[in-house]
Amino acid sequence: MSSYIIEGGNKLEGEVNISGSKNASLPIIAASILNSNITRLYNVPNIHDTQITLEILKILGCKVTKKSDKIIIDSRKMDKTEIPEELMRQMRSSVVLAGAIVGRFKNTKISYPGGCDIGSRPIDLHLTGFRRLGIEVEEESGYIKCKCEKIIGNTIQLDFPSVGATENIMLASVLAEGETIITNAAMEPEIVDLQNMLNKMGAKIKGAGTNIVQITGVKNLKEVSYTIMPDRIEAGTFLCAGAITGGKIKLNNVNPSHLTPILHKLEECGCKIETQKCFIKLEAPKKLKAVDIKTMPYPGFPTDMQSIFVAVLAVSKGTSIIVENIFENRYKYTNELKRMGAKITVEGKTAVIKGIRRFSGANVNSTDLRGGAALVIAGLAAKGKTTVNNIEYILRGYEKLDKKLSLLGAKITLA
Ligand code: UD1
Repeated sequence: MSSYIIEGGNKLEGEVNISGSKNASLPIIAASILNSNITRLYNVPNIHDTQITLEILKILGCKVTKKSDKIIIDSRKMDKTEIPEELMRQMRSSVVLAGAIVGRFKNTKISYPGGCDIGSRPIDLHLTGFRRLGIEVEEESGYIKCKCEKIIGNTIQLDFPSVGATENIMLASVLAEGETIITNAAMEPEIVDLQNMLNKMGAKIKGAGTNIVQITGVKNLKEVSYTIMPDRIEAGTFLCAGAITGGKIKLNNVNPSHLTPILHKLEECGCKIETQKCFIKLEAPKKLKAVDIKTMPYPGFPTDMQSIFVAVLAVSKGTSIIVENIFENRYKYTNELKRMGAKITVEGKTAVIKGIRRFSGANVNSTDLRGGAALVIAGLAAKGKTTVNNIEYILRGYEKLDKKLSLLGAKITLA
């Protein structure tokens, strides 16, 4: 297990380029299975989660060529439909591969994705959706087998606007007979990105970005080249790094409209924000102010930014109240922030944060991807040295985090 060692107290200043979106890359890489052809993807982040997804594709028989952020996937000779358990367990979101595999081969077997550090994360909505499409789903001894003669479009009402279930059902119904309509669909920008990629490949989908997505089945798909959208959570993380250090930074390769709730909260904290089509500038105040936050499905405040904002609010003036509405166990990292001096009380969904003057550097452990990023952000503003351990969690979703922060003037090294 590796660690980041951070010497806190440097204002971040300068410009940073935001990478392609992790959460858009995963379903889009899965989509490359559907066309039985060549898919060229640009702006793919080189992170653990994309590496695992590509590893699975190779095992399934796809040819994968990688050159920096460009990936070519040739799925013509793909001949396997079973995802090995050890890879499935490494990454819960590999469950979206099931929709693409069953969509093309009418057959797949995956192992049940294990629980995870931020909550139980069931996949019942994915499986109910598959069943509505005429797919037989059998669950036994930790495995899920999906098979059918053909996939037939249907209406699917999601009990909750799940991002993964919306994507999985879209993938499974692209080559279906007839029309599928997903209501109460998730509206995240990553779903719009998936729709755009699939349509460029020859699919007929409309409505992504609203709560009704309509997929008209097609018989054939074609070769495609596509550029992945920027990562809005990486962008939010850098903005928080700028804010907490009293810095002045500019993010390039971002889509500010995807960050509206994050930008508004940063403004409420006292930051000056300027946006143009593909950049965001942030100038932090001398002292940040407390704000209240409730996480919600998009376009609400993203749960993935909750922990990172809590790090910022822990050293802001006043008391902040956070309500986590998406995942039931997403406050584990607060125990680590407390080791750095934070005053946080958690009860159920709610965290109450009393702002302190400054963090003190400490030896802390990442508990999950975004919780780990929160510890790094706290370390940047702490007095003295912070060692963040178990950074494998962080490497799942951030590309060159230490290098990018160093470019902005942070003192952070990988050990
Ligand atoms: C995706 C994101 C993740 C983000 C989350 C919410 C990816 C790879 N990951 O995760 O970063 O935090 O959206 O924005 O895109 N649920 C069920 N049954 C299901 C599916 C979900 O009860 O079948 C529940 C979950 O337990 C959770 C809520 O729905 O409480 C939201 O989950 P979902 O939107 O599905 O998140 P993911 O797609 O797993």
